Amino acid sequence: MIGSQLAMEIEYKHAEIYAQFSILNDPKQCTRGGADCRNCPIEDLTPCRRDFDRICANLLNLMLHHFQLEESAMRQLDKANHGLKEIFEPHKEEHANLMEQLSRTISEDVLPADGRRALQCLIRHWLDTHVIKHDKPLIAAVGNQSL
Ligand SMILES: [Fe+2]
Repeated sequence: MIGSQLAMEIEYKHAEIYAQFSILNDPKQCTRGGADCRNCPIEDLTPCRRDFDRICANLLNLMLHHFQLEESAMRQLDKANHGLKEIFEPHKEEHANLMEQLSRTISEDVLPADGRRALQCLIRHWLDTHVIKHDKPLIAAVGNQSL
């Protein structure tokens, strides 16, 4: 894959993740206002939990593939230009930390409303900090290379 295609692929993954993030923010995700699942009868909570689990599975899958794609791009860049490892190590560490935080946030015992709020914070933080600090420079570097 040439660099500009890989850069576009990374941007496309960002858009897919952002679309999942938008579903998390959709007020229709909860017919009862979504503030607190503790007041919901179990018959309402069960489909809500199922929807939340589905969104989480999609999100985890997307994030995992996205991180693998970026880390593959880092390896290719590092091969072409040694010395970039020090720049990429903190980026990869943030990926690992984020996956760990995501897994913890969507553990089985979290209530859907609490989980949605926690995920919104986590993904918002990722979009506002990690993407700007690490991903954008990586995309620019990949786009300028013929890998
Ligand atoms: Fe990244």
